[in-house]
Amino acid sequence: MDKNFKIVICGGGSTYTAGIVKNLLDARRLKIRELWLYDIDAPRQDAVARLVAQVIRENAPGLPLKVSTDPQEAFAGADFIMAQMRVGGLPMRVQDEQIALKHGCVGQETCGAGGMAYGMRTIAPMVQLVDYCEAYAAADYWIVNYSNPAAIVAKAVYALRPRARILNICDMPVEIEARMAEILDCELQDLEVDYFGLNHYGWFTKVRRRGEDVTEQLKAHVRQYGYVTQKSYQDLLVQDPDWRHTFENAKTIANLFPDYLPNTYWQYYLLGDSVVQYTDIHNTRGQQVINGREKRVFAAAEKLKNGEAVDMSQFYVGVHGLFIVEVMCSLAFDERSRQLVIVRNNGAVENLPDDAMVEIPAYITSRGPEPIRVGPIPRFYKGLIEQQDACEGLLVEAAIEHSYAKALQAFTMNRTIPSATVAKAILDDMIEANKDYWPPLQR
Ligand code: NAD
Ligand code: G6P
Ligand code: MN
Repeated sequence: MDKNFKIVICGGGSTYTAGIVKNLLDARRLKIRELWLYDIDAPRQDAVARLVAQVIRENAPGLPLKVSTDPQEAFAGADFIMAQMRVGGLPMRVQDEQIALKHGCVGQETCGAGGMAYGMRTIAPMVQLVDYCEAYAAADYWIVNYSNPAAIVAKAVYALRPRARILNICDMPVEIEARMAEILDCELQDLEVDYFGLNHYGWFTKVRRRGEDVTEQLKAHVRQYGYVTQKSYQDLLVQDPDWRHTFENAKTIANLFPDYLPNTYWQYYLLGDSVVQYTDIHNTRGQQVINGREKRVFAAAEKLKNGEAVDMSQFYVGVHGLFIVEVMCSLAFDERSRQLVIVRNNGAVENLPDDAMVEIPAYITSRGPEPIRVGPIPRFYKGLIEQQDACEGLLVEAAIEHSYAKALQAFTMNRTIPSATVAKAILDDMIEANKDYWPPLQR
């Protein structure tokens, strides 16, 4: 417990960094020796570092903050690396979204064509991050990765660097659990869930409140209202109408497939047509983030530079940061906390391939996650997951083998794309738009 950790945030210039640092500082049991920000974009990171410095002044004055674009000094001796890179930045996210939408398909950050394009951009930089950590970090380093698209990143890094000390995670299930707690009028910590699937592609099979099975009660609510309450409906409408729409959409899926409670991301795969109709190609989610969260972050950095006061609480990231820090602490202190994480299946879901990267509950120990056995799953869910796992597997092989044929198979295999000809048209546009980022694909 007395160890002092060197923590590095990779993607230091992220819009989430200041908020995550608040969560790190709130975890009093985590003693930090040095906090480092690492990014490839120095001016962006320097601006965000001003917000981070302010969070430190307000919460842990005296903590050393170092900012670098040099991987050797940043990762030297690091104990924990929190990875949150967005390769290509938000402008490339918008491009992904718009190219897919132009072809009438779901245009989304991590799902469908957009997710595959983002995946092809992110594989090489994530592998490079692993190599930096192997070369410079402490021997028992852990990378806690939540860079998206987490499903593809997890599969690719496992294929290329199977021994890497990396744990891939996503906050969506726990964000949904926070909504469940609101519906059930309890605290998030009161809930324990069973869950299976791939990242952004899973189902809650059981929800317990302090040990009591409340799954059916919750299903009844979600079938009527989605993951919103009367109160949160109003709050969300003001704060973020897009997320309100997403949380509400779970209602349609919960009615169609009442066996389990859906992850919100199913809307892109199961309600693609209505999502396309809802989305404005001139105001995609990426554009909303550029005009909202990103603007607010950099306007605040400018204010701090000019000595003006900023209310830092607007940048706190709540459950997102809380979850990441809980996972880190469990790795650091062998706490064995039960978390949903992305791991190699290895039989946990009995009738899925061993090499699928599944999102399931696991006890997080200092030696890594100990997954909890799920058992067999019904044919409908198995079929959906096998198709997506094949799609993501083909995409990773396309990146590794530089294979156009496999990329086309991956795009064709994705549920959000209606035909092989549309798949080819989108893929060709994506290749052109991503020529500075993707590995070359041989035809
Ligand atoms: P952002 O664009 O504001 O920040 C990302 C930062 O990464 C930028 O400063 C960029 O310069 C940097 N970067 C890009 N390539 C890099 C590389 N090779 N090495 C180091 N840094 C690099 O993005 P954001 O909206 O703050 O999101 C950050 C990341 O977190 C994204 O990948 C996003 O999808 C992810 N995210 C994941 C979850 C989850 O649940 N898994 C939740 C929220 C956000
Ligand atoms: C959730 C998901 C993340 C995703 C994010 C997008 O948190 O789990 O994987 O990156 O939503 O949020 P945004 O506000 O950027 O659209
Ligand atoms: Mn996620």
